[in-house]
Order: sequence, then structure tokens, then C-alpha cells
Amino acid sequence: MSEDLAILEQNLLSEIQNASDENTLEDIRIRAIGKKGILSEKMKTLGKMTPEERKEMGPILNGLKGRITEALSTRKHILEEEALNVRLLREKVDVTLPPRFDPINEGRIHPVSQVIDEITAIFGDMGFGVADGPDLETDYYNFTALNFPEGHPAREMHDTFFLKEKEDGERLVLRTHTSPVQIRTMEKEEPPIRVIIPGRTYRCDSDQTHTPMFHQVEGLVIGEDIHMGHLKWTLEEFCKAFFEILSVKLRFRPSFFPFTEPSMEVDVGCTFAQGEVKIGEGDDWMEILGSGMVHPNVLKNGGIDPDKYSGFAFGVGIDRLAMLKYGAPDLRAFFDADYRWMKHYGFRPLDIPSMVGGLSS
Ligand code: PHE
Repeated sequence: MSEDLAILEQNLLSEIQNASDENTLEDIRIRAIGKKGILSEKMKTLGKMTPEERKEMGPILNGLKGRITEALSTRKHILEEEALNVRLLREKVDVTLPPRFDPINEGRIHPVSQVIDEITAIFGDMGFGVADGPDLETDYYNFTALNFPEGHPAREMHDTFFLKEKEDGERLVLRTHTSPVQIRTMEKEEPPIRVIIPGRTYRCDSDQTHTPMFHQVEGLVIGEDIHMGHLKWTLEEFCKAFFEILSVKLRFRPSFFPFTEPSMEVDVGCTFAQGEVKIGEGDDWMEILGSGMVHPNVLKNGGIDPDKYSGFAFGVGIDRLAMLKYGAPDLRAFFDADYRWMKHYGFRPLDIPSMVGGLSS
């Protein structure tokens, strides 16, 4: 009998030792010391024994039950602790990870936005403010106030998108250049005026270097005794800063715009080598902008006395500058919203251009 009990104890203890979770352990407990468990059944046999037998078996069975109970509780504690450790490990939060890591890492600033930020930083450093106006313009601001005579071919020159005539006969246009904001600024501000006007512009045109919507930045300076020397210096400083080069060669070619007199188109010196343009050196020329001294009629239309004040203005194609500086070959891709293109040509959102921190570093 006691040999059987010894084997039973051995078996139970090793089952308890090997129980790998709390459910298995509970099953063993019920089977061993539950109400109908093996040991409880054995206890019940005590009643049928002689007093002598009971005196001997009682303590043996009680001792056995005690040891099994204790082994069960020891094992239970170990399993509980193991389960807790597994859970702690699984639910661990690494607070050292940067929050919202991905948007900063994945997002890109479009080259057009980048170039606008660069231009703003350069002119901001020279004391220029930023102005803007509506994309949908009246014929007056887009043409008439800028000294385009009625029926003048220059109006056609712009490949204008005209909107349907309104009931009162007025016909709005998608602005063909940022120059209308010259007038809007003169109407609002007193000289001295120093502003740049970056924004969207529209012309009915589409090929590798033209899209129906494109971007320009207008520059306008008005004050007493403003002359072409100021214009030339400003554009030279701008080109050096923008292309991040120490010296630049500019060529001013006589041209025509109704709103400037005299008018000049400006070319920048460059070389074309292995299909790549290098700005600032070499014997080739690349046209980059239109400019001139503000026409007296335009000053008058803006409410400024041309006998007292003079000014200069210029207009640059932003997309073209972006293509030149960052080597993108096809303008149409700028507006395809292709994420792979953005990954390649875009800029990291926290690399904000500034004159002290660097423009495109
Ligand atoms: N508005 C002109 C254009 O779009 C550029 C320009 C602006 C020329 C200012 C002279 C002065 O072609």
C-alpha cells in the first residue's frame, strides 16, 4: 500500500513539475485533491479501517496531501510569474522611438515650393515683402491697367484662357502672368515698395517645357530715383544667391513689354556639357526672365505719381528655374503627382531654405 502511495506521489509530483500552464495544473489539482480526487477517495477509506490501521494511514495520507498541495501552490506561483513576464515583454512600449517618424521621413516638399521658399528667403534678406493676388483676374488688371492697348496683339500673345462672359458682359481670365499684382500692390501701398509676388499663372500651351498652369515670381520696386542700376544689381545678387555660385554673367537684351519702358530680357551665362547646363560660366546664354523700368502709364494706373517716383519690375518662370537648378528634364512631370518622382526630386520637409542656414543643402 505505502509503496503504491510512493509511486502515486512520484507521479503526481512529476506531473505538477511538468505542467506548462495554469489550466493543466488546475486539472491535476482536481484529479489529485479535488472533492472526488484520488487522494480524497483514499481519505474516505480511512473510515472503514480499524483504529490501528487508521492511526498508521491517517498521518501518511495527510502528509501526502500536504506535500501535493504545497507542490501545486509552488508550481502555480512559478507559472503565474512566467505568464506575467511573457505579457510584460509582449506589451512593452519603447518610448525612445521618435513619434510620428514616418511622415517626416517619407513626405517631400515639391521642387516648385522649394524654389518659392528659396526665392522668398533671398529677397526677404534684401528687404522685400511678399504679396499675392487672385488667379482669376479681370481683363483690366491682367491687361488694360498694364498698358496693353485695347485690341493690341500682345493680348493674343499670351494664349489667354478666357472665361465665359458674365451677364454684365465682363469676361474674366485666368491670369497669364503675375504682373496684375503690380497694380493691386500699387493701389494698396505707398512707395517705397519692395515686393515679390510668387504664384500660379496660366497659358494655353503644353509641351516638354510648357504646361497650361505654371508659376511665376514677379518683382516690383518703386521709390524715388530708382534706376536700371538697381535692377541690374538686384538681379545679379539674386542669380548668385539662387544658383549658389560666386559670380554670374548676365546679358540684358532689349525687348518689349507694354508695362515696362525700356524693357529687357535677361540671359544668364552658361555652358552645355554632356546634356547638362552649368549656370554662371561659359559662352552660352540662357534666357531666364523679363524685366524693365515700370512704364509711367502703369504707375499712373496704380495711383502713383510718375513725376515723383520710378521703379523696376521683373518676372521669372519659377518652374524653369527649378528645372535649371535641380535638373528635372520634363516640366509636365512636375504636375503628375507621381510619388516616385517626388521621392527623387522632392526636398525633406525640415530642410527649410534660409540665407544663413543654406538654400538647398
Ligand atoms: N509679365 C511678363 C511675362 O509674363 C514678365 C515681366 C514682368 C516683364 C515684369 C517685365 C516686367 O512675360
